[in-house]
Amino acid sequence: MAELKTAVAEKPKTAEQLTAREKAIRRLQEKGILTMDGQPMPRRKFLVNLALAWATFAAAVGGALTVLGGFLIPRVDFTKVDVFKVGPPDNFPKNSVDETFKDSKGVWIVNDGQRIFAMSIVCTHLGCTPNWMPNERKFKCPCHGSGFTMQGINFEGPAPVPLRRFEVSLSDDGQIVVNKGRLFMAEKGEFDDPRSYIPV
Ligand code: FES
Repeated sequence: MAELKTAVAEKPKTAEQLTAREKAIRRLQEKGILTMDGQPMPRRKFLVNLALAWATFAAAVGGALTVLGGFLIPRVDFTKVDVFKVGPPDNFPKNSVDETFKDSKGVWIVNDGQRIFAMSIVCTHLGCTPNWMPNERKFKCPCHGSGFTMQGINFEGPAPVPLRRFEVSLSDDGQIVVNKGRLFMAEKGEFDDPRSYIPV
């Protein structure tokens, strides 16, 4: 009678059960130097595997550096900062709001009798454009009714803070230069910064 043999699957050895030689072979297999049969990896295949490993590593490092660079390098495009001349101070009589640059540059040039400054036309509530009401001597926002004095100070409606101002300076040819890359905020005490106005 044929002897009945029962095939028993061989259990893989744990790391502690391996001999020193077996451990060395397993390490070489993990590094791709030996095949799973314990044969030396063909040279070409080994080099291809090595190149692929390096490519994967380089891609991972490159990706990480790109992400890191995104945090470290400012995303401001300084070539697009809006700096422009609006004319000499004499063009802006006392107690006047000049709307020449409202649509093209987004600023009013205001002379309140003591200072000339460039004021943003963006309402500090939700960004609508207020209207200058010459008879009432105030800016009034059509969206939710915020009101601002000639100096841009909010005094009615939901706007939480005054209108913003931009940096102004005098150029060599005596014109006022507006730099929209630098904002001045009243709530930070910046309206008294000499870069935010031209004295009259
Ligand atoms: S956006 Fe001006 S009051 Fe709301």
